[in-house]
Amino acid sequence: MRIMVINGPNLNMLGIREKEIYGQETYQDLENLINNYCDSKNIDVMVLQSNFEGDIVTFIQDAYFSEYDGIVINPAAYTHTSIAILDALKATSLPFVEVHISDVSKREDFRQVSYIAPYALKRIIGHGFNGYIEAIQELENVLNESQN
Ligand code: DQA
Repeated sequence: MRIMVINGPNLNMLGIREKEIYGQETYQDLENLINNYCDSKNIDVMVLQSNFEGDIVTFIQDAYFSEYDGIVINPAAYTHTSIAILDALKATSLPFVEVHISDVSKREDFRQVSYIAPYALKRIIGHGFNGYIEAIQELENVLNESQN
């Protein structure tokens, strides 16, 4: 199983940015958590981050052309603005899970919009870094079922 994990803008600032919201742990800690989990499960994972919307579109297209099985995506602020990221996800038809570290449902009004949510297999919000592991587990369940 091959999974791409895509992180949007400012997530490279984890451990520095708004620690009361996003916690003390760094982006490197997040990468390690995901890589260790995937190693233990024999999942081939690629973890990516960009501050640029177009890069994120290209990552999604690469997931299609490189035959990944699914995507875990935290588009960060682009969640609330980006039709381009939505279109890229729809173009690939790959199953994807939307993750947010914080509980966006309890935050500002502008964070209540997610362009991608209606098309996600699942939305995991407010579970901290563990939300990424839950998202990978969701893909494992769905992809294993579709193989049987
Ligand atoms: C976020 C929530 C977004 O609203 C915000 O812009 C982020 C991070 C989260 O993981 O909680 O940058 O996606």
